[in-house]
Amino acid sequence: MRFPNPVFVALDTPNLSRALELAQAVKPYVGGLKVGLEFISALGPEAVRRVVEIGLPVFADVKFHDIPNTVAGASTVIAGLGVAIFNVHASGGEAMMRAAAAAIAPWTPRPLLTAVTVLTSMDEAALEATGQKGPARDQVARLAALTKASGLDGVVCSAHELATVRKVAGPDFLTIVPGIRPAGTALGDQRRVMTPSEARAAGADILIIGRPITAVPDPAAAAKAIAQELGLAGF
Ligand code: C5P
Repeated sequence: MRFPNPVFVALDTPNLSRALELAQAVKPYVGGLKVGLEFISALGPEAVRRVVEIGLPVFADVKFHDIPNTVAGASTVIAGLGVAIFNVHASGGEAMMRAAAAAIAPWTPRPLLTAVTVLTSMDEAALEATGQKGPARDQVARLAALTKASGLDGVVCSAHELATVRKVAGPDFLTIVPGIRPAGTALGDQRRVMTPSEARAAGADILIIGRPITAVPDPAAAAKAIAQELGLAGF
């Protein structure tokens, strides 16, 4: 399940004009846009609609995690905004994921529903402190398998977990990968990064890229350089 241009730009800003300006600037060079909790908390659903109106697929990185009834209701609302993809936490469990999937099943086009397995910010000590013992990779494998069994379309994962996810969920499961840094760009707070072409070669379907595009003087040029690095047709 591949997107012709796999790059989704993370519009991590609480400023709508800035987000729309950035999105318009990079539109010719990217495959989609991502809005997350900062954007949505600051600006609300109407702002998500404005981003959808730009005409690229939008990934709402909402990471829902609540009782099934509440997540089903929230999923219906998010689908109604016209986003192409949104997500929940796999650790919310099978009933929660199935409720989200059932809530959006009647929509056409139906948004793709994905799940976060283990937050990449959590190391093994942090997982253990939440009661989760054992290697983080095992938890990623368990939750990716549960996500698939619950009828979802894919997961958000680190590029370093792609092989684990593919092993349990197969080649058609959508993989969305943040932590991407073109060679020579600032890491910021990301640690275990891959370049866009490395992540693509490792099997990522969607690459979430924020600051290497949004925090440089010429976002359009940065996005174009990434499209060229990936060898996409037309660049
Ligand atoms: O600026 P940068 O490229 O690091 O942005 C990555 C984006 O992906 C941010 O919006 C961040 O919230 C998101 N993300 C992440 N790691 C995860 C899940 C989401 O970096 N595990």
